[in-house]
Amino acid sequence: MVHEFQDTSVLVVGASGLMGGEIAAAFARAGARVMLSDIDGSGAEGRVEELRGEGCDVAFHRADVTDAADVHDLLRHTLEALGGIDVVVNAADVRVFGPAVDVREERWKAKIEVAFKPFFLLFGGVARHWIEEGRTGRMISISSTESTIPYPGSVAESAAKAGVDILTRVMACELGPSGITVNAIAPGMTRKRQEDPGFSAEYIESYMHHIPLGRAGEEREIVDAVFFLASSAGSYVNGQTLVVDGGYSAGIPALQVSGEPPTQWLGFDRDREGV
Ligand SMILES: NC(=O)c1ccc[n+]([C@@H]2O[C@H](COP(=O)([O-])OP(=O)(O)OC[C@H]3O[C@@H](n4cnc5c(N)ncnc54)[C@H](O)[C@@H]3O)[C@@H](O)[C@H]2O)c1
Repeated sequence: MVHEFQDTSVLVVGASGLMGGEIAAAFARAGARVMLSDIDGSGAEGRVEELRGEGCDVAFHRADVTDAADVHDLLRHTLEALGGIDVVVNAADVRVFGPAVDVREERWKAKIEVAFKPFFLLFGGVARHWIEEGRTGRMISISSTESTIPYPGSVAESAAKAGVDILTRVMACELGPSGITVNAIAPGMTRKRQEDPGFSAEYIESYMHHIPLGRAGEEREIVDAVFFLASSAGSYVNGQTLVVDGGYSAGIPALQVSGEPPTQWLGFDRDREGV
């Protein structure tokens, strides 16, 4: 499905990062006016230059999405620059992986703050504006498969993203009567993240064995899910976390550890059991 976003104003937070950058660029190339924002301008500013070179209508505003004054400024600036907001996407994140016995308190706080506070500061602020103006719109967060599928070392990620999922549902209940939808996307690992030097080859190989489709997602496949929720096709979807992970969270394909189609699944010998 080709989505068109002409006459649509989109605010993307976390736009210097991998997913936020891809989402912002895709909206801009689909015709939307896009405000990119991040606490760190290094990635988004270059992207804005590149997109302007392609004729896209984009701007950047630096803001810490956990800081009330910054978010207030961001919304004022975005409304001035874009003339309104129709879609707001929060892809800001602080990566904190490690077992509970090791995680440092300040990292834990940073993770939880960046996951939770945007619901009150960013989404709350945008919702107040929409309600005052009699407008509606779409709010989309980026969750993660760790919200439902924990593993050793995912303590901060799982806690934060389980919170994102439940806050998505709470805000959908609160804002639905005003015609506003609030949803989240939970991506599995994407290809560019898979190439991150922080992951060992062993970890990646093991992870891929857990994905029924046997590969990482393309960033574009996550963008398409965001487009679905932001478009007229997603108008009746509300309070959901849409999982886009190649089946990673569907079950346990991991007993196929190597090679061609396995002869054994979950301990059953295919030939002997007549499966
Ligand atoms: N890329 C993947 O494979 C993948 C898989 C599953 C889930 N996700 C989720 O997608 C989201 C984005 O992931 P990513 O890979 O793009 O991460 P990333 O680290 O590349 O980007 C995160 C961005 O958020 C920004 N940020 C951090 N704190 C901020 C703050 N206080 N205010 C404003 N901006 C802030 C960072 O500067 C960074 O640019 C995360 O929630 C992540 O858990 C990504």
